[in-house]
Amino acid sequence: MASDSLTIVDNRTGKQYELPIHYGTFPLYGASIRGADLKKIKISDDDFGLMSYDPAFLNSASCQSGITFIDGERGILRYRGYPIEQLAEQSNYMEVAYLLMNGELPTKTQYDDWVHGITHHSIVHENMKEVFHGFHYDAHPMPMLISTLAALSAFYPASRNVMDPDVRKLQIYRLLGKVTTLAAMAYRHTKGLPYVMPDNDLSYVGNFMNMLWRMAECRYTPNPTLEKALDVLFILHADHEQNCSTNTMRIVASAESDPYCAAAAAAAALYGPLHGGANEAVLKMLRQIGSMDKVPQFIKDVKDRKAMLMGFGHRVYKNYDPRAKVIKRLAEEVFEVTGKNPLIELAVELERIALQDDYFVSRKLFPNVDFYSGIIYEAMGMPSEYFTVVFAVPRMCGWLAQWQEMILDAEQKIARPRQVYTGVAIRDYEPIEKRRAR
Ligand code: ACO
Repeated sequence: MASDSLTIVDNRTGKQYELPIHYGTFPLYGASIRGADLKKIKISDDDFGLMSYDPAFLNSASCQSGITFIDGERGILRYRGYPIEQLAEQSNYMEVAYLLMNGELPTKTQYDDWVHGITHHSIVHENMKEVFHGFHYDAHPMPMLISTLAALSAFYPASRNVMDPDVRKLQIYRLLGKVTTLAAMAYRHTKGLPYVMPDNDLSYVGNFMNMLWRMAECRYTPNPTLEKALDVLFILHADHEQNCSTNTMRIVASAESDPYCAAAAAAAALYGPLHGGANEAVLKMLRQIGSMDKVPQFIKDVKDRKAMLMGFGHRVYKNYDPRAKVIKRLAEEVFEVTGKNPLIELAVELERIALQDDYFVSRKLFPNVDFYSGIIYEAMGMPSEYFTVVFAVPRMCGWLAQWQEMILDAEQKIARPRQVYTGVAIRDYEPIEKRRAR
């Protein structure tokens, strides 16, 4: 008998089945059986066969991926094998985006070509301004970003040819270039400010800051500390394996939809308060708590299930989120320039109490990436509604890397889960005059 296998006895029939066990890079992390192998477990020839029932994908792998590795028990995050701490310390976002997309860090020439390609696709069609003009001045910037990402599809109909590698490359440049422009336009729209076109002489992040904050000056010069801090935040948010929005990107794109519509769908998933929308929710929560003396009562409310501690907990991390550690340190550097955001003290106190409390300890609830990021964005001058947009901008490269990997994976097909049907077995149609309200 092969040692790397699973023996299953079906007690309904007494039959025994042997299913192979497959491994990824780490034998102790990611051993799996094929869901389709369960199908041969049947009680009769006309039985469909056994399925695994896994609402919310609690323990199902939907793909093999070589992009991002997370060990949630030990608080480890790596992109293409590189620890996130090293990348945050030594790399920059454009280099990391190349790494995620191509598997290796770029040479100098590759890096220059990559940055040039993205930079020279950052301008959006003039008609896009009309799309923005259709929104109310107080529209939330996330729906504006989601809609305008989808609208790009209408400007680039050839993008539907997703099996052509040259077409894919062009859309990757366009999406990475234009996501900053659209995100900045959403911000300027809510402020009633004129849109600022990209400045190709600035860095990716520096240009984003230019499009957000340039006023009447001839040339915008980003503050180097804030530019560096935002770049690190972009690195930390670039990818996070099969999270809700990335899974959405893969699922929509599995139908061979174009990457603009798939990215819009991914951004829509990110908008939810249980996912990327949590950074906005954290600030709302901190403001509601208001002062240090209210923290113990708030923690009590959370334990009584009257409130959620937003920015805490994670499906995968059962340890401190390594990104939150870097962000907490980064906050101090940003505050040197912007002045301290008073909410940081509330957040630190909440964390201190929560990490000593059995409710949080026993459930392995730790701060996640969203707990401290909003406090930094707010110190930089961004309104809380804008935080999820600043998450979506760097996550675009993760979505695109995962999209490309899926397209090139010969095992992938259109995503189509099964269900366990629990409805009425069969009944006869009744004309409306004979029906009773049920
Ligand atoms: N506050 C209070 N209790 C919590 C929290 C929280 N933030 N998170 C989880 N719990 C509790 C749950 O009530 C549950 O308790 P129970 O077993 O007694 O019922 C237990 O911890 C396990 O939580 P689940 O909801 O089963 O965990 P799941 O993996 O489904 O959810 C999630 C993870 C959605 C992140 C959750 O922790 C949460 O809602 N956190 C707050 C929102 C947030 O910060 N989201 C951002 C995540 S990071 C990102 O997406 C970028």
